[in-house]
Amino acid sequence: MADKNVFINSHPLVQHKISMLRDKGTGTNEFRKLVEEIGMLMGYDALSDLPLKEIEVETPIEKCMTPVIAGRKLAVVPILRAGLGMVSGILALTPTAKVGHIGLYRDPETHEPVEYYCKLPNPIEERTIVVTDPMLATGGSACDAIRMIKEHGGIKIKFMCIIAAPEGLERLKTSHPDIQIYVGHLDRCLNEHAYIMPGLGDAGDRIFGTI
Ligand code: PRP
Ligand code: URA
Repeated sequence: MADKNVFINSHPLVQHKISMLRDKGTGTNEFRKLVEEIGMLMGYDALSDLPLKEIEVETPIEKCMTPVIAGRKLAVVPILRAGLGMVSGILALTPTAKVGHIGLYRDPETHEPVEYYCKLPNPIEERTIVVTDPMLATGGSACDAIRMIKEHGGIKIKFMCIIAAPEGLERLKTSHPDIQIYVGHLDRCLNEHAYIMPGLGDAGDRIFGTI
């Protein structure tokens, strides 16, 4: 089991904001802002291994060599719809990142993902790819999205979710042991409708106000 690639967040700010998200009284506007903020906070953590290079800068005092991010090789890929909510938070940190999109929805009967869209930056091989989706429930959507990215040539992949169920995390790390998985909070389990307990309900509906 590739647990060295799983990072469960414990930062008080992230945990506080996730608690606000869970509250069924949190309205669309606040929910959206919280998802964006958590995307930024988790993105800061997930991007801590970005490569650096030294450049020369002249300060008011003297010239020095000082580090900057090497290259512009990042891609953010939200899983539609709900993953979109985390993108602006990550782009606030890395404004030059390219953005791809993967469209998947869960079949209400089988809970298996159904693909309806895929557009990724090309070429993708050399990019660090951050896949976003607030919810990792059965893991079907995340596993399919990662498979699609790999089929397009993606290699260095990070998956970021706000809430995961143990079932989905197990499936994702078993199916794709080579990727890094960042989880805001690991919840208890799935219910009979494959919703996460206690979770936050339907993330897409709460972000876009379509309940
Ligand atoms: C939700 C969520 C994930 C998926 C997680 O999307 O945003 O993509 O379900 O479930 P899984 O781990 O069991 O696959 P949904 O299918 O509701 O689509 P939406 O984002 O368009 O609402
Ligand atoms: N998708 C959601 O939005 N919420 C869940 O709890 C499970 C899947």
